[in-house]
Amino acid sequence: MNSSVLQAIYQRRSIREFTEREIEPEIILEIIRAGIWAPSGLNNQPWRFVIIGDKDIKEQLSRQTHYSHIIMAAQVLIAVYLDKEAMYDSVKDYQSAGACIQNMLLAAEALELGAVWLGQILKNKAEVNTILKLDDRFDLMAVLALGYPRHKEQESTRKDINEFILRD
Ligand SMILES: Cc1cc2nc3c(=O)[nH]c(=O)nc-3n(C[C@H](O)[C@H](O)[C@H](O)COP(=O)(O)O)c2cc1C
Repeated sequence: MNSSVLQAIYQRRSIREFTEREIEPEIILEIIRAGIWAPSGLNNQPWRFVIIGDKDIKEQLSRQTHYSHIIMAAQVLIAVYLDKEAMYDSVKDYQSAGACIQNMLLAAEALELGAVWLGQILKNKAEVNTILKLDDRFDLMAVLALGYPRHKEQESTRKDINEFILRD
């Protein structure tokens, strides 16, 4: 495959086990930079980010989801938010957040990091905002758990492409 974009799309897997290796701050910024280069309606760029490396904050966040082990294993978490004051159309702004998050996952893949999109924690998004000292102007979209992958054997499947094409 000679497109690195396609390679990242197909090789990316949700990684939930990480090594102890630290992630350079510049790498985290590169992942966020990839996120902010996602398209958004009217180029309103409604996304905002909180970078979390502090163990105590991770522990508090880990109590807000079934996936506490992933939160604790990650070297860094990035909470991805929409800023309600920057939004103009909820469907389009949510779509933009998804594009941003997927760009970040693909960047993580390109940088040889492992990452997983954590959504289950959204059920406690008010508590997450309290922990991160944010008011409800900021709407949590996902927490990304990041680290160098402990292994690369993660597998995934997709249904046959014909199941998705409604009309050709
Ligand atoms: C909106 C959304 C929410 C998700 N929430 C979680 C989660 O809370 N915990 C988790 O382990 N994985 C979560 N995932 C990852 C999915 O389980 C994963 O993408 C799916 O099983 C396909 O596997 P793959 O990413 O390796 O291709 C989430 C993915 C998305 C897009």
